[in-house]
Amino acid sequence: MFRAIGDRSTYLLQYFMMFVVKVINASGAVTEYQLAEAPSILNAFEDAGYQYPHGCRVGVCGSCISEVVDGIEQLPQRDFIEQRRLEELRHEEQKSGSCALDHTHIRFCCRTALTGDITLRPLSGSVKKMK
Ligand code: FES
Repeated sequence: MFRAIGDRSTYLLQYFMMFVVKVINASGAVTEYQLAEAPSILNAFEDAGYQYPHGCRVGVCGSCISEVVDGIEQLPQRDFIEQRRLEELRHEEQKSGSCALDHTHIRFCCRTALTGDITLRPLSGSVKKMK
């Protein structure tokens, strides 16, 4: 698909891929979204008119942390900040004695580009339609 970017005098047509993103909510219900590729999963939802759980948008607060239930291999490798925050989370869990999460499937949706079909389970909050 194509989309226009830029202002009236300099707009360009940009080719982009569409992906199927399934979201499992707290009750177990699954909602399917058609989202365009984007620099972050968070951006992909916003571009489509939805609000994904988030706070800081830079990898600090952890509000966007989600379990990638399916399709983890479709996503790019973690960047330095995401890797560092994940290690900090792991240390915090070890200190508290609770290791409930499978960290290999945990991603920060503000720091992970959408590059394939995936199934997500947000660990806090839910997807909402923007007003
Ligand atoms: S929005 Fe804060 S860590 Fe992703």
